[in-house]
Parts: sequence; C-alpha cells; structure tokens
Amino acid sequence: MDIELCIWLILCATGVTGQFQVEPLDSTVLKGSDARFNATVLGKWEVMTWNVRGFLVLTVPRSGNISSSSEQFSASFCSADDASCVAFTIRNTSRMEAGPVICTVQGDYGSKSALLHVEESGTIQIKEGDMKVVQDEEVEFNCVTSAWFPSPVVSWNLNGDTVDSSHYNSTHAAHGDSFNSSSVLKFHAVKNSMVECLAMLQTLSNPLSTSVHFVVVPRPPDWTVLIAVVCSFGSFALVVLLILGIIFCYKRKKEKEPNYQDEMTKRVRTQSQSSGLRPPGHKQGRVNADYVTDGQTSIAPNDLTESNSFEMPDAVYYHQTENDYKTANNNADEGLRKHRHATTV
Ligand SMILES: *[C@@H]1O[C@H](CO)[C@@H](O)[C@H](O)[C@H]1NC(C)=O
Ligand SMILES: *[C@@H]1O[C@H](CO)[C@@H](O)[C@H](O)[C@H]1NC(C)=O
Ligand SMILES: *[C@@H]1O[C@H](CO)[C@@H](O)[C@H](O)[C@H]1NC(C)=O
Ligand SMILES: *[C@@H]1O[C@H](CO)[C@@H](O)[C@H](O)[C@H]1NC(C)=O
Repeated sequence: MDIELCIWLILCATGVTGQFQVEPLDSTVLKGSDARFNATVLGKWEVMTWNVRGFLVLTVPRSGNISSSSEQFSASFCSADDASCVAFTIRNTSRMEAGPVICTVQGDYGSKSALLHVEESGTIQIKEGDMKVVQDEEVEFNCVTSAWFPSPVVSWNLNGDTVDSSHYNSTHAAHGDSFNSSSVLKFHAVKNSMVECLAMLQTLSNPLSTSVHFVVVPRPPDWTVLIAVVCSFGSFALVVLLILGIIFCYKRKKEKEPNYQDEMTKRVRTQSQSSGLRPPGHKQGRVNADYVTDGQTSIAPNDLTESNSFEMPDAVYYHQTENDYKTANNNADEGLRKHRHATTV
C-alpha cells in the first residue's frame, strides 16, 4: 500500500479532507532578496494558484507548464518526482510584495495564507563628520538613518567597544512608508577616538555602519582667569613701584638734606666771617639757585631746625613750623626771603 494513500485514508477516516500546508506562515526578507514558500499537499490535486497581495501571480498545474504573471514569480516541485511539494519563489522582493501570500489548491483543499515582510535598509550618516573636540568637554554625535523599514536598531561603538545605551537616545519618525531615525550620543572626550554608528535590522547579516574620528585638543586658556591674573599682577607691580618710588624719593631727599644744611651752614659762616665783603646781589642769586633745586625735592622741617649753627631769626621761624612738612616747604621761600633779608641787612 502506498504511504501517501495511507495518510489520505487516515485523514479521510478522521473527517479531514484536502489537507495542505504552507511554510513558513510568516516570512521576513530584506528588500532585493528572494522569498520562498513551500506548499505541501496531502493527496491528489490538479491545479494550485498563488496570490500575492490579492493578485494571481502564478498557476501550477500538477502536470504541464507553470504560468506566471512575471519573471519575478516562479515555482517548481521540491523534488522532480514528488508532486506533493511545490516551492514558490518571489525574486528580488520589494515592499510591493509585502503582505499576504495565499496558496489555493483547487478542489476540497481551500486556501492557506502566509505573510511576507520586506525590510529595507536605507542610509546611515553621522552628521558631525570628523571633528576636533576640546579635552574633557562633552561631545555630541548625531547618527541619522533615513529611508529604513522598519526603523533600525541603532547602537554605537567607541574605539570598537560597545557604548552603554544610557549614553544615547534614539528617536524615529515615519517618512512616507519608511522611517528616519536619529540617535544622539553624548560623552566626555578623553582621547582621540573613533566613533561608529551601527544600524541593524533582523534580516541584515551585518549591521550597516558609518564611523567618524575625532581629535582631542587641549582646553584653551580661560581668558577671564588670565586677565584677572594679569590685572592683579599689574596692580601689585604698580603698588610695588609706588612704594619703591616713595622710598627712592625719601632716600634722595635724605641725601640732599645735608647739602642744604651744609649750604646754610656755609652761608651763615660766610655771613658771620666776611659780611660786607661780597655784594648782596651775588649772594641773592646763589640762594635762589639753591632754593629751586631744593624745591624740586623737599625739605623736611625737622632737618632744617636741626641746624644749630643758626643764630638768626630764620631758625626761630623754622622751629615754629617744625612738624608741618608742607607749610615748611611752602614757607621755605618765605624763610629764605627772610634769610636773604637777614643777609642783606
Ligand atoms: C510547455 O512549454 C514548452 C516550451 O516552453 C512547450 O513546447 C510546450 O508545448 C508547453 N506545454 C504545454 C502543455 O503548454
Ligand atoms: C529588483 O527590483 C528593482 C525594482 O524593485 C529593480 O530596480 C532592480 O533592477 C531589480 N533587480 C534585479 C536583480 O532584478
Ligand atoms: C535622553 O533623554 C532623556 C529624556 O529626554 C534625557 O534626560 C537624557 O539626558 C537623554 N540622554 C542622552 C544621552 O541624550
Ligand atoms: C527623512 O530623511 C530624508 C532624507 O534625509 C529627508 O528628506 C526627509 O525630510 C526626512 N523625513 C523626516 C520626517 O524627517
């Protein structure tokens, strides 16, 4: 007894007639690749038809030539001497063929429906391209995929290592019958690296990827800090210069004082030793010249009063203005005039 007949008899006995199977019932393929469905018929059959998205595309007679609506659709017996199995192939699939694929066996068999999914890989790009980033600064890379179906799973690699998904966010939007997506990766730049964005679909044997390189440059100097430093140094230097200037002036004055005192002493001596020997005009001129030199620096009243050799009304005057530096300075002229007066008298 033939085994096929045996099965057929069993099926008839259980009340189930015209059984056939289509495999797989659900198929996902990548656009451009082939989709294949097998129909296994238990029992005798005459004509089998295949519909794709509602259109009759192929007719398979048990014996005779297979007729097809296009070269894209074809069928053959799974093995040359076995008419119970028919292999139906859709070549170069596109989104047009995605949908229900229905096999019908005329007679009591009825129809079986399978579902075809066609995935489509689009483009992938890291918007930023190669770039320079500042050391330790947060960098952002935007990976854009467009015209994918469905939206791909996007992941990132940094120097070949998978980046933890907490470092990136992905969003996608339908664009016609496909998807655009955007994934934003953020991290702190430490060293020159390669960033790779990968987009994966179930049907892709390898993810589509794109990569960019970034070069880490040292942090530029903080100008505010630099300016602050320069300013504070500048003001410090200014203060130091001021102090040095004051000290210098004070020292110069200190050095000048004895000269003045000497001059005064000399003058007094001259007056006391040889009064009347010189014409008064000459003396007056000399004093004036000395005064101008002294006026440029300063005259401390203390020093003036220290000249004990003075036995003239001038000395008394200087004593009175002992602690008034400015007054002494201003009045020096007056004092000298008095002095001059004293000498000329
Ligand atoms: C099948 O096709 C071949 C050649 O393509 C042709 O010679 C033959 O007549 C066809 N048979 C039938 C039954 O149409
Ligand atoms: C596949 O189909 C597309 C249209 O969907 C066509 O442009 C392309 O040439 C086909 N490729 C092959 C190998 O037939
Ligand atoms: C991802 O999005 C969330 C909420 O919008 C945000 O808090 C988080 O910082 C984002 N992460 C990255 C890496 O962009
Ligand atoms: C998707 O990407 C394409 C190509 O980059 C662009 O023209 C289109 O505007 C995008 N669509 C959406 C919804 O972002």
